Amino acid sequence: MDTRYLLIRSLADGKFHSGEALAQQLGLSRAAIWKQIKGLREQWGMEIHAVSGRGYRLTHALELLQQDQILALLPAASRETLSGLEIHDIIDSTNEHLMLQAAAGAASGQACLAEQQTMGRGRRGREWVSPYGSNIYLSLLWRFPLAPIELSGLSLIAGLAVVRALNHLGVTEIGLKWPNDILWREQKLAGLLLEVTGESEGPSQVVLGVGLNTWLSNQQASNIDQPWVDLASIPGGKEVGRNQLAAELIHQLINALECFEDHGLSLLLDEWQQQDLYHNKTVTLRMGNRAIVGKHVGIDEKGALLLSHAGEVKAYYAGEVSLRVDQDDEHANTIG
Ligand code: BTN
Repeated sequence: MDTRYLLIRSLADGKFHSGEALAQQLGLSRAAIWKQIKGLREQWGMEIHAVSGRGYRLTHALELLQQDQILALLPAASRETLSGLEIHDIIDSTNEHLMLQAAAGAASGQACLAEQQTMGRGRRGREWVSPYGSNIYLSLLWRFPLAPIELSGLSLIAGLAVVRALNHLGVTEIGLKWPNDILWREQKLAGLLLEVTGESEGPSQVVLGVGLNTWLSNQQASNIDQPWVDLASIPGGKEVGRNQLAAELIHQLINALECFEDHGLSLLLDEWQQQDLYHNKTVTLRMGNRAIVGKHVGIDEKGALLLSHAGEVKAYYAGEVSLRVDQDDEHANTIG
């Protein structure tokens, strides 16, 4: 294993470790340890406290991912459904990895987690900031007999699964923004990227990727270009372990995928709307350089956003929603 990862593992407990002890453990000189620490700070944005006479300490302890722990925490039914669980230290993108695995014939139910992504993908071509050892980067491959077009509601269901997982672990006050952002007070805690491929009449496969912020240093977060929050900063979030979180996410995603396979969106539509933070609010929907302002009156059975504007309700399948600051409803128009 690369020295940098070994060093992080030694420091993960958040306690002080002397330069001398680290040098001995890793078979390096103290100067080489110092160089590695500098790299972790400057290149990876890790917050490492150095005190002369005591050594080095991560300001935020890391709970690294462990396959056996995650499997042990999974309820039996989900463990049986899972066809495999890979954990990578570093990967370009867990979604990309499973897309390649899918093309090579990997079975439905394959999951992939990573401690760090070098090319984490977000929606709408954005980068997903994916520093080492904090946050969750999880992808799950699922095969459907359905045609890709029939999977339109799936991305909403997946968002709901993430909310359920967090609620189950004691994190409340969160909700959804169409189609599948998980927010706390207008700030993004988690997001999903679904990549669907398949034959036009079916079958199809989807790689469902979840990125969830558990803790980010200021330097790491400086690359995020939207309002964000991490679990450590919100009520009930600090105590949640990453392995527990990964297991609960996998479990809830499997449940949601199975439910979708049998019933589409129908059984979960009401629950989705209850978690919808923008329901009945005036929102702006941006699609390329067009923007539509309207009152968000719900979602339909295909997962489309229903906007009321100029006296009529229309369904929209794509776009980015933001809350309109002036909340005088019935005011509606189209920009651009
Ligand atoms: C969004 O922009 O809201 C979606 C973010 C999805 C990020 C996750 S992290 C795990 C998986 N691998 C990726 O490259 N992207 C998704």
